[in-house]
Amino acid sequence: MTNQRLDLLTDYPFQRLRDLLGDTPAGGPAGEAPISMALGEPQYGPPPMLMEALSRAAADFGRYPAARGTDGLRRAIADWLDRRYGLSGAAAVNADTEIFPLNGTREGLFALAAVTVPAVRAATRALVLTPNPFYQCYLGAATMAGAEIRLMPARRESGFLPDLDALDTETMDRAALMYLCSPGNPQGAIADRAYLARAIDLARKHDFVLALDECYAEIYDDAPPPGGLEIAAGSDERFRNVVVFHSLSKRSSAPGLRSGFAAGDAAIIRRLVKLREFGGAPLPGPIMAASEALWRDDAHVVETRAHYRALFDLADETLGNRPGYFRPAGGFFLWLDVGDGAAFAHRAWTEAGVRVLPGEYLARSEPDGSNPGDAYVRLALVQDQATTARALQRLAALMDS
Ligand SMILES: Cc1ncc(COP(=O)(O)O)c(C=O)c1O
Repeated sequence: MTNQRLDLLTDYPFQRLRDLLGDTPAGGPAGEAPISMALGEPQYGPPPMLMEALSRAAADFGRYPAARGTDGLRRAIADWLDRRYGLSGAAAVNADTEIFPLNGTREGLFALAAVTVPAVRAATRALVLTPNPFYQCYLGAATMAGAEIRLMPARRESGFLPDLDALDTETMDRAALMYLCSPGNPQGAIADRAYLARAIDLARKHDFVLALDECYAEIYDDAPPPGGLEIAAGSDERFRNVVVFHSLSKRSSAPGLRSGFAAGDAAIIRRLVKLREFGGAPLPGPIMAASEALWRDDAHVVETRAHYRALFDLADETLGNRPGYFRPAGGFFLWLDVGDGAAFAHRAWTEAGVRVLPGEYLARSEPDGSNPGDAYVRLALVQDQATTARALQRLAALMDS
């Protein structure tokens, strides 16, 4: 017995990359190890307070954790939202009803489709709208919820964000859910306040849920990216139809902690809690204690940001004069136009010993057959400076050869 919805999904991008490279040995300078820039896994390392808080709370492994999380963690998140986005007074996020701790953002991004997408919408199949390219979870969530997927191209011409004005009324009336990501993975584009306000207006006018994936919100170059909640808080309807997602994976370089949160519309948060009560796993108590400590501290995030800026400075120096290069406003990926991403990824591995991800694996073909990721590779700048410098130099040499 199988659920055929799962079969609608292609293999995950990293499996496709393994298939592309097969057993081909890595090239590169003799005696030097291959370097991976494929996976967006921060290598910077979490601050020591994580382990300290974990061990202080170790006795909590002996108790079932509460589905909606500890009061302390939800309070710490509400306080961070206030520090980061100025959400205090009437705009303050209610820590009891409007915040839901997650085992990483991905859990919530996926669960959201399960709790919001109806079978039928506007007398036909519900739509889920996703940027193209996109974080693969959006497609998985929409597919498993039985929705039809509508891709919103996010190409260079529209500033690497979907063109919201290109959406027609019928599409928006059929939409149950729209995912947006800012700063975006893979291109690092940041949605400005006007863009977010427009997306929120559309969500309310056409009554779909707007999922704003802000998990790179703390990794930016110049100015802190605005967030959906600060825009929504200024409206009469508060957080109606809006849910934002944040993560400690990037902010605190702790992808293995599996800790993030959803915040926004209380009715949707309630549904997420209910789903977890029936079939999900709450965050373990010590993980929540460690997460609370991390959300309460901003100093380590300042260091982390400086670390990524230095890596992008290296990229500027090494690849900055290449025609396909641009420095993103946020996130830690380079989205590099190399003409043919899959061919370049193969050469990068076999000739330079650098693993990079073809952009086409992060996107799907548009109705006209074109794939907005085809020409690109995604490079995750997540290694230390020396390793990143070596990888970038090898890629520069490859591009020159
Ligand atoms: C855009 C985006 N959203 C969500 C996630 C999931 O992050 P996590 O589940 O670690 O919080 C990632 C991780 O790579 C991502 O790139």
